[in-house]
Amino acid sequence: MPDKLPQKKILVIHGPNLNMLGQREPDIYGHQSLDEINARLLSLGENLGLDIETFQSNHEGEIVDRIQLAVGSCHGILINPAAYTHTSIAIRDALSLLDIPVVEIHLSNIYKREPFRHKSLIADIAAARISGFGAHGYLLALQGLAALIE
Ligand code: DQA
Repeated sequence: MPDKLPQKKILVIHGPNLNMLGQREPDIYGHQSLDEINARLLSLGENLGLDIETFQSNHEGEIVDRIQLAVGSCHGILINPAAYTHTSIAIRDALSLLDIPVVEIHLSNIYKREPFRHKSLIADIAAARISGFGAHGYLLALQGLAALIE
C-alpha cells in the first residue's frame, strides 16, 4: 500500500477580541464562542482532508510572528484580522510575504457598519473574502479556500 499523501495545512488566524465571541456584542457577532467555531472548522477540515491549525491573539506583533512561521509550511491562510483589518500595515506586509492564498473573513458585513470599518488593508492582497454570514462564514471560507488550493 502506498503511503497516504501528507495533508495540506491551513492556518486560521483570529485577531483581537475574537476570543470573546459569544459574549461580545452578540447582536453583531452571534452567540457562538471561538472554541465552537474552531471545532466546526476542525471537523470540516477533516471531511475535506485538510490539516487545520487555529491561532488567536490580541497582539499585532504575535499575529505577524505567526504569519511569518507559515512561510513554507502552510498551503493557505484564513484570517479575520478583526480591528487590525482597518489599521495594520504590519499584518498586510506579513501576509504579502506568503506565496499562498489568503482568504479574508468577517462575521459582520463591514460595509453595513461604521465608515471606518469599510476600509480593509488586506482586501487587495486576499484571494477572496467572505463578510456578513456570521460564524457560518468561516465554513464557507474554508470550503472556498480548499477549492483554491486543490
Ligand atoms: C470583524 C469586523 C471588525 O470591524 C471588528 O473590529 C471585529 C470583527 C468581523 O468579524 O465582523 O473585531 O472583523
